[in-house]
Amino acid sequence: MAEDPFGWLDAAREQRADAGLVRRLRPRAADDPLLDLAGNDYLGLARDPRVTTAAGDAARRWGAGATGSRLVTGSTGLHAELEAELAAFCGFESALVLSSGYAANLAAVTALAPRQARVVSDADNHASLIDGCRLARAETVVVPHADPGATAKALAGHPGPALAVTDAVFSVDGDAAPLGELHGVCRRAGAALLVDDAHGLGVLGRGGRGTLDAAGLAGREDVVATVTLSKSFGSQGGAVLAPARVVEHLVNTARTFIFDTGLAPAAAGAALAALRVLRAEPERAERVRGIALALHRGLTSAGLSAARPDAAVVSVRAPSPQAALRWAADCRAAGLAVGCFRPPSVPDGVSRLRLTARADLTDAQVTRALRTIVSLAPQGA
Ligand SMILES: Cc1ncc(COP(=O)(O)O)c(C=O)c1O
Repeated sequence: MAEDPFGWLDAAREQRADAGLVRRLRPRAADDPLLDLAGNDYLGLARDPRVTTAAGDAARRWGAGATGSRLVTGSTGLHAELEAELAAFCGFESALVLSSGYAANLAAVTALAPRQARVVSDADNHASLIDGCRLARAETVVVPHADPGATAKALAGHPGPALAVTDAVFSVDGDAAPLGELHGVCRRAGAALLVDDAHGLGVLGRGGRGTLDAAGLAGREDVVATVTLSKSFGSQGGAVLAPARVVEHLVNTARTFIFDTGLAPAAAGAALAALRVLRAEPERAERVRGIALALHRGLTSAGLSAARPDAAVVSVRAPSPQAALRWAADCRAAGLAVGCFRPPSVPDGVSRLRLTARADLTDAQVTRALRTIVSLAPQGA
């Protein structure tokens, strides 16, 4: 009898189960009553009527899908409008919108790292930056987390194009990269700096203009940023923000742009509406930062181990993957949704509960969330 071609999957599943690392999809009901500290809707805009109405209007006007690659039929006037407003808001010369933040990172890294290039990548970077490095033909040097000295060493002496890539705010612990120092290192080495601002847009910088704005680096000729439209903007999609000649290069060479259907009009319309709401209501950015700090204060004063958040993400350490899973499940049973990060989604093997602040949380909801998490904490947390 022929051997079962998928037989090896059973052993892999058992290994996951033994290590407490099984992942399961849990459908979410539209009227889910849980208090949500698990999603990335930092500004509370995913269900804002101005945003959802814009999504519907865009679908009715432009169609449910973009109908093709941006280079064939998929580049609507709405995409151009979103790109112009996003670039202006974040302080960059130009923007290119793609179907996800993941695709934007693959596009930026692969297009800016040709075969003769060297890429220097922070060890804790998001999976999409790591995958960009894997897909690029360039040599990649992985350096310790948030280490400008190691980045300088890794860039030194390379004769071809060079690129340092980093998350602006790291998705697991919520800490910010030392962007000013990294930019100085890149300048001295003649390298470009590529920053993934998925967690900074809408939260950091003046009125939520992002981490590059906060660092005074937006629009520099040697800096490229990527963003997602799926977190603060409550929509879907991603973008690369860069000097115009970089965007022109991406349009001509980035495979996740060229060979991918354009961002759906509903997502583009929703993102544009969210951007306009944020421009009109910049206090949302300040509110979300304040809530993250309040969560951190409450957790640490109860003796839990949580790193001080630089943006909206607050991580609390758990003693084991199994304990993290149980803690998150107990919170859920008590009406609170929190994220549960375990290997391989954590850089250091330490499992965590991951909480996200939202601008639309009330003080009473923050207090309730803290009380739930602290009262259900496992031994050793
Ligand atoms: C740091 C970071 N970069 C990129 C992405 C990918 O963005 P998207 O979900 O839009 O594909 C995410 C999360 O989803 C992220 O946390």
